[in-house]
Amino acid sequence: MKISIVGAGNVGATIAQIIVDKALANEVVLLDVVEGIPQGKALDISQSAAIQYSDTKIVGTNTYEPTSNSDIVVITAGLPRKPGMSRDDLMVTNSKIVKEATESTVKFSPNAIIIIVSNPLDIMTYVAFVNSHLPRNKVIGMSGVLDTARFKAFICSELNVSIENINTIVLGGHGDSMVPLIRYTSVGGIPISDLIPKERLEALIERTKNGGAEIVKHLKTGSAYYAPAASVVQMIDAIVNNRNRMMACCVYLNGEFGHNDICLGVPVKIGERGIVEIMNLQLTAEEKKAFDKSAVDVKTMLKTLQDINVGEKKKD
Ligand code: NAI
Ligand code: 2OP
Repeated sequence: MKISIVGAGNVGATIAQIIVDKALANEVVLLDVVEGIPQGKALDISQSAAIQYSDTKIVGTNTYEPTSNSDIVVITAGLPRKPGMSRDDLMVTNSKIVKEATESTVKFSPNAIIIIVSNPLDIMTYVAFVNSHLPRNKVIGMSGVLDTARFKAFICSELNVSIENINTIVLGGHGDSMVPLIRYTSVGGIPISDLIPKERLEALIERTKNGGAEIVKHLKTGSAYYAPAASVVQMIDAIVNNRNRMMACCVYLNGEFGHNDICLGVPVKIGERGIVEIMNLQLTAEEKKAFDKSAVDVKTMLKTLQDINVGEKKKD
């Protein structure tokens, strides 16, 4: 198993470190445009492997050749939003980066499963999907695992119960209009609405929707990376160990949940082939309305990309 990570920043390097700690791969390649950063971080992580008794090898690089024949490639490359930069500016800049990273990935690793992390996530997953020319089971965006983890963490501290007792899932886009599914949220089998009063539950949902922004507010110069990296590793673990694990991931929709030609977070089963199955749940009218609103938000952003060739409609 060879795993490459494009973007050796906070999220990318943390993913690499966890993979090495857990010895989830034989080889990890960390790639970045900045000279020295992936090499230095890879060397540091290789020395932590000596303490963890991990035989996983890790190298850093500024070119794609060393990533050749990877089984999984994670794309975290991208710029954070800077003062004066609009959300659309960021989207256009990161689209170009993700498009180029996807094309290079596929050139050197034609059989890889690609996991996208760069933001805006649903748009970047779409950009990667259309430019990879891979089947949709092999291009997976990470967002639902993180959003679900955040909701779980807030319920856990609210009720002071073990995290193992909590079951929930968050669908939709990775933004303010994400859709936590209360109907599927339970603690030790007990519906969440029997345990937490409505207003309090709504406050936890609101906090989940703003989970990323809350951390940015504390950090000031960057965004979350420990939980995002752990989320990616959970997806990698499901692929490497062919777990057929159910989780929410961003995937290209072809009619599922009533949507076409868009990437959005839905419940999927992940195994060695990537997405093994999309679980096409019947949503209630209220849930569907919230999911559709999320889709509209993502489609509105996608429209901005129509004038540049990173957002071409898939032709198949
Ligand atoms: P960071 O700024 O620490 O790292 C980004 C890295 O990408 C930098 O080292 C930069 O040099 C590199 N890079 C830029 N252009 C590149 C290119 N063309 N090829 C290779 N590397 C390139 O940022 P961080 O915190 O690691 O976040 C990375 C991305 O992931 C951001 O877009 C962030 O918004 C997103 N993110 C998404 C999450 C999600 O839930 N989907 C969660 C957390 C972060
Ligand atoms: C997050 O949710 C920044 O998307 C990132 O933390």
